[in-house]
Amino acid sequence: MREIETNGAQETIRLGKALGELAQPGDVILLDGDLGAGKTTLTKGIARGLGISRPVKSPTFTLIREYPEGRIPLYHMDIYRLENGGAEDLGLEEYFEGDGVSVVEWSQFIPALLPEDYVRIALDRTGRDDDARRIKITAVGEEYMRYEDVTWSSHEDN
Ligand SMILES: Nc1ncnc2c1ncn2[C@@H]1O[C@H](COP(=O)(O)OP(=O)(O)OP(=O)(O)O)[C@@H](O)[C@H]1O
Ligand SMILES: [Mg+2]
Repeated sequence: MREIETNGAQETIRLGKALGELAQPGDVILLDGDLGAGKTTLTKGIARGLGISRPVKSPTFTLIREYPEGRIPLYHMDIYRLENGGAEDLGLEEYFEGDGVSVVEWSQFIPALLPEDYVRIALDRTGRDDDARRIKITAVGEEYMRYEDVTWSSHEDN
């Protein structure tokens, strides 16, 4: 497990960008955390790290948004509206087994549909400051360890 603290959305985007640069085809990235924790913000960074310049919007109502134009396709999913079921019909397995990077917000609602290996990123407020977030990166499966080892910088360095 790797624990990182960010201060403000820009820092979370920078972390996401570094994570996106590590992504490989078929990766599954689970994002867990309460409303407003910063899951979509982190995804904006991941998209940037994949070379996607189109703005990333929350897929809360569409459930899945696809961004095919980067180094690897990005599949951004938000399960929030399916808290009470229905995710079985989304065809998530096909995304998870596909060549893109699947980023899943609220994956805690679909424990039975998750693949064997993934990286789980949990975000929460620290309580100290409105703009501070504690971000815990946990690899499940050896190949996801690279996410725990991410190198990033919270501020402008180049
Ligand atoms: N350190 C931080 N990291 C991320 N977001 C932050 C941070 N500090 C403040 N924010 C703000 O918190 C909000 C996070 O919203 P975001 O949509 O990313 O959350 P979310 O986890 O995707 O929520 P939802 O469950 O509703 O989809 C944004 O308004 C962002 O500007
Ligand atoms: Mg969101």
